[in-house]
Amino acid sequence: MTPMVVSLLLFASLTALLLMAPRVSPPPLVVRPDDKPPASASAAAAGMAAGVAANGGGGGGAAVVGEGAEDLALFRRVTLDAGEGSAVAAPPKVAFLFLTNSDLTFAPLWERFFAGHAHLLNIYVHADPASRLLLPPTPSFRGRFVSAKPTRRGDPSLIAAARRLLAAALLDDAANAYFALLSQHCVPLHPFPRLYATLFPPAAAHHHRLPSYIEVLAGEPQMPARYVARGEDAMLPEVPFARFRVGSQFFALARRHAVLVVRERRLWRKFREPCLPEARDACYPEEHYFPTLLDMADPAGVARYTLTSVNWTGSVDGHPHTYAATEVSPRLIHDLRRSNSSTHEHMFARKFAPDCLAPLMDIADTVIFRD
Ligand SMILES: *[C@@H]1O[C@H](CO)[C@@H](O)[C@H](O)[C@H]1NC(C)=O
Ligand SMILES: *[C@@H]1O[C@H](CO)[C@@H](O)[C@H](O)[C@H]1NC(C)=O
Repeated sequence: MTPMVVSLLLFASLTALLLMAPRVSPPPLVVRPDDKPPASASAAAAGMAAGVAANGGGGGGAAVVGEGAEDLALFRRVTLDAGEGSAVAAPPKVAFLFLTNSDLTFAPLWERFFAGHAHLLNIYVHADPASRLLLPPTPSFRGRFVSAKPTRRGDPSLIAAARRLLAAALLDDAANAYFALLSQHCVPLHPFPRLYATLFPPAAAHHHRLPSYIEVLAGEPQMPARYVARGEDAMLPEVPFARFRVGSQFFALARRHAVLVVRERRLWRKFREPCLPEARDACYPEEHYFPTLLDMADPAGVARYTLTSVNWTGSVDGHPHTYAATEVSPRLIHDLRRSNSSTHEHMFARKFAPDCLAPLMDIADTVIFRD
């Protein structure tokens, strides 16, 4: 055989291997098969131990990122397998990623939102293993809990959990085209078809260039303090202050950006560094990592606003206003849908106290799921 023939044969066999690879490798088992959210006794124990240590440390505890070998294997699988999903013939789906540390109180409302559209969506839940869940999962959430690790507010563990959710959803279904991060305090503001039409405008034939809906802000007053929360020059050279961004962690990422996030390591290594003890109140890495990364990597590919409404008026201790049952009304839903910009409407809102479920269900059909 001539060298030419040998290299052609080699090329052909490599191509065959690549084409067959997805079929010969076992299907990803990223979604836990049972209904019990707590990941494992050891993970829960580790989380509680870390929580105790952090509480005992006067607020200066080390970060509870806990991204272990299992996570790294998951992320590597995304790098190898998940691609960008562009060759999928099925209609694109929305992946709903619930990042929770207590009961999914609004599951009955979400059930009504999802009803009749199961073929266009998938649900994934990352429930902090230490959370005490009292409500049994409703049908759409059953068996949708991904392997979870402890999370803590204002801590890189929230970024790690979001990356875990993105990776699980990328591997689980190649048709997942948008990845909407939500919490147990979030509620829908429109019927599902309205969300779907917003994400996939009928005119856009090439779904792979659709934007990510993530808030990207610069020049906010809290940013200088947050930039130096790990030390004066800790973010250099990867993130100069001029490139540092802030935005709500509640995003809806297009698939190519979800892949980008899960594959990314350079900035993640920086943002997972714990903040200095004296800067614990000026840290919030989950509000900086995603907007900074995406604004660096694909500034033209992000909408720069979020689809999730939040009310910061009269915020207490860094928490947004939490709506109580007495505040729920048709008027509130209409107010929350409107954003400052006339170009878009909010699809989701937070934060709602658990006792809002009944009044929200009362206006679900007449207001929330009617456009
Ligand atoms: C935002 O929260 C404040 C209380 O902090 C409340 O008075 C106001 O009505 C809320 N705005 C909306 C649009 O719900
Ligand atoms: C909306 O715009 C007004 C005027 O520009 C501004 O004062 C207000 O803070 C904005 N609200 C939000 C939620 O962005």
